[in-house]
Amino acid sequence: MLARLANKRIVLGVTGGIAAYKSAELIRRLRDAGAEVQVVMTAAAQHFITPLTLQALSGNPVHTDLLDPAAEAAMGHIELARWADLVLVAPASADCIARLAQGIANDLLTTLWLATRARLAIAPAMNQQMWAAPSLQANLGQLRQRGVAVFGPAAGAQACGDVGEGRMLEAVELADRCADQFDTGALTGRHVVITAGPTREAIDPVRYISNHSSGKMGFAVAEACVEAGARVTLVAGPVSLPTPGRVTRVDVTSAQEMLAAVERAVAGADIFIATAAVADYRPAQVAGQKIKKLADTLSLELVRNPDIVSTVAARPDRPLVVGFAAETEKVLDHARDKLARKRLDMIACNDVARSDIGFRSDDNALTVLWKEGECVLEKASKPTIARQLVGLIAERLPASGRKD
Ligand code: C5P
Repeated sequence: MLARLANKRIVLGVTGGIAAYKSAELIRRLRDAGAEVQVVMTAAAQHFITPLTLQALSGNPVHTDLLDPAAEAAMGHIELARWADLVLVAPASADCIARLAQGIANDLLTTLWLATRARLAIAPAMNQQMWAAPSLQANLGQLRQRGVAVFGPAAGAQACGDVGEGRMLEAVELADRCADQFDTGALTGRHVVITAGPTREAIDPVRYISNHSSGKMGFAVAEACVEAGARVTLVAGPVSLPTPGRVTRVDVTSAQEMLAAVERAVAGADIFIATAAVADYRPAQVAGQKIKKLADTLSLELVRNPDIVSTVAARPDRPLVVGFAAETEKVLDHARDKLARKRLDMIACNDVARSDIGFRSDDNALTVLWKEGECVLEKASKPTIARQLVGLIAERLPASGRKD
């Protein structure tokens, strides 16, 4: 269940109340479930718990001030508002609830609340008499009406000695409620390792052998996997593409480096998707100095590179393995052969003889094959094709071993 929090970005707003000590444990629980947490504290909150404590637990600097130029330079309030998937105010004091209900933006937390399109939630914490106050209940009603989730409060003994409603929920329960805010995606709780782009095989310090792969398809697949809820490690050859959000990117140059990075990442992974156009051969010797043009002809001796996807498929703990095939003729015959020879679970084939799709294009079309079936994904943008492919991959995952 908590797997839904994997990779999610949560802004935790802490306001002034004795329950702020529970926020410390909540941060731990959210991070244990794989969420990233940025903490925003009001001035009153800092009387109850120190920013340093919450900084250590969240692993990020705590945000306290709307008008601090240094803090704004690191991650401004608008950036923070855009970053979040969920803004949870816990504890939410009566004062803060009133300001949120009225749309007052007089500190960082309330400003960010107005500026975000993230899901919104509050965990009220206050004295039972304050909780029962008609003005508080009216403010809460307004927030609920606007779709704000209200977690708790619980009833019981209060710090002030009263007994009644108003205690903040415990951290474990709050983490569960946060998870409830997110749908389960087809790959929720899964770890996916993807290779993308070309590799470069050095001839000498200034020259190399490579190919025209842009990496766009692999990057689109990485993005589609994140969208489906997965944790993604993207091992990328030399490409000039920005890293999709929430993807752990490992940059490599040669096939041997790519294999080493994949082997480090793939233990325990659920899915391996090999979109990289790995150079099949590399020069046997890399010249120490730039090769001079002295002779009329020059021969390079090439040796076979390791086959990364086959190496992963041969592991005893193999994940679901998906390969790509770029062919110029007899596309499906070659792909079926590759599926069996490389012991893949699935292969996606490109007809690279077509000029309108494939290598450097923004579009693609794929025929996806597996042992018992096949599916044609008609020409569309690479992100669209990637989403459809991820859907097919998710259907083929064994149900057992699901980590959510
Ligand atoms: O044999 P071929 O290169 O056509 O196979 C393509 C598939 O194998 C792709 O999924 C590609 O990423 C993968 N591959 C690999 N390591 C290699 C060569 C290809 O992982 N050395």
